[in-house]
Amino acid sequence: MLLKLSEKDIWTVADAYEGTIVFGGNGAGKTSGSGKDIAKAFLKQGFGGLVLTVKIDEATRWCNYVHECGRAADLITVEPGRPAALNFLEYEAARPGLGAGLTYELVRILQIAMDGGRERGQSENPYWDDAVAQLLTNAIDLVLMATGRVSLPDVVDAIRASLDSSQATNVSDSLLGNLQTKIFHANACPLTNEYAEKLYGSELQATANMSVGTGGVTGGYQRVMLPILPAIKFTTLKKGGAANHGVVDGYVFQAGKIWNGSDGKHNRNWLLVPFKQD
Ligand SMILES: Nc1ncnc2c1ncn2[C@@H]1O[C@H](COP(=O)(O)OP(=O)(O)OP(=O)(O)O)[C@@H](O)[C@H]1O
Ligand SMILES: [Mg+2]
Repeated sequence: MLLKLSEKDIWTVADAYEGTIVFGGNGAGKTSGSGKDIAKAFLKQGFGGLVLTVKIDEATRWCNYVHECGRAADLITVEPGRPAALNFLEYEAARPGLGAGLTYELVRILQIAMDGGRERGQSENPYWDDAVAQLLTNAIDLVLMATGRVSLPDVVDAIRASLDSSQATNVSDSLLGNLQTKIFHANACPLTNEYAEKLYGSELQATANMSVGTGGVTGGYQRVMLPILPAIKFTTLKKGGAANHGVVDGYVFQAGKIWNGSDGKHNRNWLLVPFKQD
């Protein structure tokens, strides 16, 4: 067991292997809520891994986790001023297999062709040069992975496909589909909340209506299909901090999973988990 999500629901190593994604607006509690619990569970269970940090306090946060979980001896920090390093050029050149060392060379040749021999430093907008290089690199890698060889028409096709917005949606949908555990924290983004609403689906629910007129009071019940968790539910979740007594709420989803809940009688496809900040 990695996490206890309720008295009667656990999150296992097998669940972790199937991929996880955490959604939430800025300051919703992704890092200090579910992220922290998942990180510590992995460390305590002996997992290894590569942690890429973006924010300045994130490396310190992870160092603290590593120490708290008794994994200090396993920590290798790669940052300027420290000896540990990865020479990714050498790694790329030395790795076995088709296409090794080819991508960078191809990107360089294509860029020279497009620039008409213009020097990098003289470019009017280096940002776009970098963006083109990134696009070419990704497209070439994609073609290599898909076909094992690379040709200009295939690279052009891959770039066209990536620029087609409907394709982009398909790619992101299939990526999200592969990450089986989804945790939704507070979010003001309607697109994400509608995505969550669709994920949890709809069910028949009873609604009541009543009208008062000259003929008296009339009313009744209907059964209509309504969202199990309407998008608005994701806008009101607890975001941690003193105001919420350090509690970060998150709705957890797993395809095909019916949660037991703490009383064992919940029997729903959603589970509202109160993650505690440190
Ligand atoms: N240990 C803690 N105790 C109490 N409050 C905290 C703690 N850590 C963070 N907070 C507060 O809880 C809220 C959620 O913070 P957190 O950094 O986890 O959100 P986040 O979703 O990761 O945000 P971001 O999108 O900026 O990465 C913030 O208001 C933050 O100041
Ligand atoms: Mg964060």
